[in-house]
Amino acid sequence: MPGAIYAEGLVKAFGDVRALDGVDLDVPQGTVLGLLGPNGAGKTTTVRVLTTLLRPDSGRAVVAGIDVLKHPNEVRRAIGLSGQFAAVDEYLTGRENLQMVGQLYQMRAKAAKARAAELLDRFNLADAADRPAKTYSGGMRRRLDLAAALVVSPPVMFMDEPTTGLDPRNRQQLWGIIQELVAGGTTLLLTTQYLEEADHLADDICVVDHGKVIARGTSDQLKARTGGERVEVVVHERDHIATAREVLAGFGKGGTTVEEHTRKLTVPVSGGAKLLAEVIRELDGRGIEIDDIGLRRPTLDDVFISLTGHAAEGAADDGNGAGDGDGRSGGETGAGAGGRRAARKEAAK
Ligand SMILES: Nc1ncnc2c1ncn2[C@@H]1O[C@H](COP(=O)(O)OP(=O)(O)O)[C@@H](O)[C@H]1O
Ligand SMILES: [Mg+2]
Repeated sequence: MPGAIYAEGLVKAFGDVRALDGVDLDVPQGTVLGLLGPNGAGKTTTVRVLTTLLRPDSGRAVVAGIDVLKHPNEVRRAIGLSGQFAAVDEYLTGRENLQMVGQLYQMRAKAAKARAAELLDRFNLADAADRPAKTYSGGMRRRLDLAAALVVSPPVMFMDEPTTGLDPRNRQQLWGIIQELVAGGTTLLLTTQYLEEADHLADDICVVDHGKVIARGTSDQLKARTGGERVEVVVHERDHIATAREVLAGFGKGGTTVEEHTRKLTVPVSGGAKLLAEVIRELDGRGIEIDDIGLRRPTLDDVFISLTGHAAEGAADDGNGAGDGDGRSGGETGAGAGGRRAARKEAAK
């Protein structure tokens, strides 16, 4: 039986760009799928197709047991979507935003009011509840956006890069909220650029690049594929890079990556702290001065280098993944942000 979110052979081209190039997904009910990939990988396009905002060129999708292409309106009623502030109206206060969403979903005014108050409280927005959303900080907007998606508790939720651009404290806070939500039985598809985030929240991870799923598995499986721990060394002199590389090759389980301008060398290893001590001794013995050395867990970049042979462009680019869907909503079907906003304005009268 297909899961709560199921997709088969999704293809979507924008001119020459194949944003989706045959995406298959199957997310069992009550689990979290992390869709992991760099900017431009096709994450948002996947979410838009699954949430009925965009029609694929080919392929099939079923969400909450409903065919996305045949019955988009029913799908919309069964899902929640958060991301890229689609749900937030700048000119309304936080409280008004949440109440409007409730009314859009045909809640009674009193119930919508109570639900708004509850969510404002839970998302630490009570103090700012009666200020227009445009005065909110980035973190506050994210929280409001997520709260808006939770006004009605949908069985299936989509979150597009919910924490991109947030500081670590706000990120942690959001993770807690998402975990609570999932504990209540919601099926969640979450996109992210951060392996750490997928690691924390997702049962299964799909790594996407250039519109294709290039790997899938649990986070442990992906990390194992990526070669586990890394030794990272920064040598003091550029002239020592070549020798350091030789030394590391003797300890590594895979190829050494060199970043010339920062004089940083990275190699996958197994062996932990004991091995680290040996590396230091060996480098010392060869007269190589080091500025920094350490062991670290694989990052998204490592996963990408190991899976695709190239670094994830923009993977370390914290700030601008969030807005990447803005300003190019042409040619799409259904009630996108614009339609919802118009409906909300109507409801606000
Ligand atoms: N409406 C659009 N018009 C033209 N190109 C688009 C459109 N939406 C997405 N793309 C392109 O499709 C690719 C995938 O984009 P997207 O799904 O937004 O990636 P991600 O969310 O992973 O960053 C990118 O090359 C992007 O530029
Ligand atoms: Mg995106």
